[in-house]
Amino acid sequence: MGLKEAVIRSYNGEADRARVEDLERRCEVGPTERVYLFTDTMGDPICRIRNSPMHKMLVAELNNQLVGVIQGSIKLVTFHNTPPKDHESNLARVGYILGLRVSPLHRRKGIGSRLVCRLQEWFVANDVDYSYMATEKDNEASVRLFIEKFGYIKFRTPAILVNPVRCRPCHVSSNIEIAKLKVEEAEFLYRKYMSSTEFFPHDIDKVLGNKLSLGTWVAYPRGEFGNFGSNGQVLPKSWAMISVWNSGEVFKLRLGKAPFSCLLYAKSWRLMDKFLPCLKLLPSMPDFFNPFGFYFMYGVYHEGPLSGKLVRNLCHFVHNMASTTTKNCRCKVVVTEVGGCDSVLRHHIPHWKLLSCSEDLWCIKVMKRKEADRISVHELTKTQQTNKALFVDPREV
Ligand SMILES: CC(C)(COP(=O)(O)OP(=O)(O)OC[C@H]1O[C@@H](n2cnc3c(N)ncnc32)[C@H](O)[C@@H]1OP(=O)(O)O)[C@@H](O)C(=O)NCCC(=O)NCCS
Repeated sequence: MGLKEAVIRSYNGEADRARVEDLERRCEVGPTERVYLFTDTMGDPICRIRNSPMHKMLVAELNNQLVGVIQGSIKLVTFHNTPPKDHESNLARVGYILGLRVSPLHRRKGIGSRLVCRLQEWFVANDVDYSYMATEKDNEASVRLFIEKFGYIKFRTPAILVNPVRCRPCHVSSNIEIAKLKVEEAEFLYRKYMSSTEFFPHDIDKVLGNKLSLGTWVAYPRGEFGNFGSNGQVLPKSWAMISVWNSGEVFKLRLGKAPFSCLLYAKSWRLMDKFLPCLKLLPSMPDFFNPFGFYFMYGVYHEGPLSGKLVRNLCHFVHNMASTTTKNCRCKVVVTEVGGCDSVLRHHIPHWKLLSCSEDLWCIKVMKRKEADRISVHELTKTQQTNKALFVDPREV
């Protein structure tokens, strides 16, 4: 008698919720040699895709056991790196694959591959041009599955920057003006200045208008005139813009399998805080071992000679906003993801190397081969060295 095959079907919240969360816990993804942050979906495993315009979650079931899961979303983004000939030619439908997990006891039996196949079929049925996924570059199983088995190719390596939120406020320069924009003003600026950025979402208005988006702020030198309104053509020579997404409202983070040295470090730091409060100059280390909320900064844009400093001050401003969150939804880190080549942003966005990931690996695959005008992905990877920014959609964090 042949071995039974896992059944792949759509996720059913009522029946699968607890079992998917249990599977997630058994599959903690992350390198063993360094600290990483684990996602805690707090009873709602579909939360990471719920805000995307089209989404799907599949599960694999074998002998009544839930043994695998995968999630995907579809949206329209700016894709080609060439200047737009007409408005539509710069847009592509992209499918994003995330949250692939197979129970440790059922690995290397083709379940992961079948889940990817079924999700790709959903992409094809929904007219997706390109499928992409992100992984730790040293996750060998995932890299080999997507690259060797499914023909994905390495595409971009953005950096995930994580900054802990301390109790004490960060300094915001009095020479800098920071102003909150209305959603329509933010949309106007994003469409004007960032719509040619790779992966810029066509439905930016939906992102900015989502209840999880806390707002968009601009910074510019005090005394300079800034008209950021929808008809505003006069902008300061240097300015920067950041939007903030309250990711902690959707899911929490906690430190996963921290190496002993880190645990020791955190513990001694807390003891010092408790018994030697006079050492006020030391930034206190937050407790990362229980689930905590976080803010995600997205749509970071900067222009002009002083813009690096403006970005840094905006980050301090967001840090201070995060530090005032209440105990219940305490926000303990501020996270952002920037294109691999954007050295200005990497330099000016405050972050802890220990918690950050310098190279998140994005892999991509062409799903629609027939259309003659589709740029080849090999050509796209050649543009890796250009100084292009990347728009990381907060709905996909
Ligand atoms: C990655 C993962 C989903 C693979 O699931 P799986 O059911 O074992 O995958 P498959 O059996 O379909 O393997 C397909 C191919 O992937 C590659 N692969 C899978 N596991 C591998 C491993 N541990 N080491 C090296 N290659 C591996 C192989 O090329 C394999 O083909 P082969 O078995 O013919 O050699 C599973 O290991 C897992 O859940 N890991 C933890 C979570 C994770 O890392 N998810 C990916 C995040 S994007």
